[in-house]
Amino acid sequence: MFTVGILTVSDRCSQGKLEDKSGEAIREIVSKIGASVVEYAIIPDERELISQKLTDWADKGGVDMIITTGGTGLSPRDVTPEATLDAIDRTIPGFSEAMRAQSLKKTPHAMLSREVCGTRNKSIIINLPGSLKAVQECLPVILPALPHAVEVVKGEAKE
Ligand code: MTE
Repeated sequence: MFTVGILTVSDRCSQGKLEDKSGEAIREIVSKIGASVVEYAIIPDERELISQKLTDWADKGGVDMIITTGGTGLSPRDVTPEATLDAIDRTIPGFSEAMRAQSLKKTPHAMLSREVCGTRNKSIIINLPGSLKAVQECLPVILPALPHAVEVVKGEAKE
């Protein structure tokens, strides 16, 4: 059992022009392994806002894992990976590598997602691409490793 914060990064969702289906999908998928969602926010594609939110949630404690969706691609407004790098103190390349490797079996466009994963203090931070389809394809890939990752990061289990 662990706690999750969902951070949807999207100009259109933050303006109420688009429904946040990807954030909802994350909620459904993590609930399957008994995780509870304790934070949820939708913010625009602004590097400072994103890194500030990641920092706030990670530093106040009580959020074992922050999962972002959106802003990982190559359009000029996509800055989620840079904001995540601003916030984390260690990377977890294996999560990003696994998601991209599996996603490449579905679409060559998986190469366009620059998702970053890492830790800040005792929180794990995971970037997912923005589309509902991408969330449904990427998150299940790393799901089996998440409970143990949380335990290790919190110091409750040895690797
Ligand atoms: N990964 C999976 N598994 N499935 C997808 O459909 N879409 C790709 C990629 N990763 C996709 C995927 C596309 S089209 C883009 S542009 C990038 O994720 C970045 O998406 P984002 O900017 O919404 O984060």
